Amino acid sequence: MKNRTLVFKSGDEDFEAGLLKAADIIRTGGTVAFPTETVYGLGADALNADAVHKIFKAKGRPADNPLIVHIANIDQCSKLAEEIPADAIKLMETFWPGPLTLILKAKDVVPDVTTGGLNTVGLRMPDNPVALELIRRSDTPLAAPSANTSGSPSPTTAEHVIHDLDGKIDAILDGGPADIGLESTVVDMTDKVPTILRPGHVSAEDIRKCVGDVRIGYRDRTLEEGEVARSPGMKYTHYSPKTKVILIEGNIKDVHKAMTEIVSDCHREGGRVGLFVTEETAKVVNADEICSLGKRNIPSQAARSIFMGLRHLDDKEIDLIIVDGTLKKEGIGTAVFNRLRKAADRIINV
Ligand code: TXA
Ligand code: MG
Repeated sequence: MKNRTLVFKSGDEDFEAGLLKAADIIRTGGTVAFPTETVYGLGADALNADAVHKIFKAKGRPADNPLIVHIANIDQCSKLAEEIPADAIKLMETFWPGPLTLILKAKDVVPDVTTGGLNTVGLRMPDNPVALELIRRSDTPLAAPSANTSGSPSPTTAEHVIHDLDGKIDAILDGGPADIGLESTVVDMTDKVPTILRPGHVSAEDIRKCVGDVRIGYRDRTLEEGEVARSPGMKYTHYSPKTKVILIEGNIKDVHKAMTEIVSDCHREGGRVGLFVTEETAKVVNADEICSLGKRNIPSQAARSIFMGLRHLDDKEIDLIIVDGTLKKEGIGTAVFNRLRKAADRIINV
């Protein structure tokens, strides 16, 4: 039988008691999902190996994929990491609390299960009052991956967490929908030049302005056989709904034409199609279900809706999801395309 997952909602009368209870669960080795400004995280005491094991079990996550450790003040870094470079401190001071994870050399106190057996640890200070309060009251850093079943789209609301993990985790703190909607920028600080391992809201340009130089160390697709992953997360399929996803990229007119053709082909075979498209494309192409990525030139709207939209369409009776690649690729658009390309079963360039 399933265990009961407690849900405490921010703004409710008993939320204060809920926070206390959640911190108590963390201190006694349990698991609590909590809101951050990026996506919901599934937290446990990062220094308690048994507690961290429960995260991997609930998500069905491969054991070699390390977890990000969430802290509430910069002082906690020196307990978890050694040789913190000056550039890392600059980045912390500039972007924390915020959507930036820094990979540093780990101290021995961080258990292997948290680091996926690596000698490094990812640290991040989330910019969300509920998250920060939970970390403070738990009085320990929180290991927390996104609070979804491994491989499925990341959760941006408490409902998504309930959908994936109800009965598998001890509690959920509901802080409303996530602000940014996609996960933090991950930057490896263990080399001389910082290397971005996952794009996010903090852009390469932002990092360059702060510390002078930065490398891109990620690809927008799953690694090929024989390639070595610098970040274990790179090897796994990500963000995939159960329904087949096709992403169409290219110039606007050609994308619309290809989209219309694929919709017709699918209809001819008796299938139903869902479109995940910009407002502008929605005026031109039609299908059976439609979900908005927002305005073409405002990729932050797409960031906020990408995982929500993929989950929404996946719940509909459709055979195919077509995603609109005419969205602007600048700023957080880079991160949106990274997630869309990883979610896609097929990418068509027209
Ligand atoms: O915004 C976020 O980062 C969210 C919220 C909850 O904080 N968390 C998140 O965690 O997205 P997760 O586990 O879904 O993704 C963490 C990524 C993975 O790709 C993992 O491989 C990488 O960060 N990572 C973590 N620690 C690492 C390390 N020591 N070295 C290299 N990559 C690391
Ligand atoms: Mg994740």
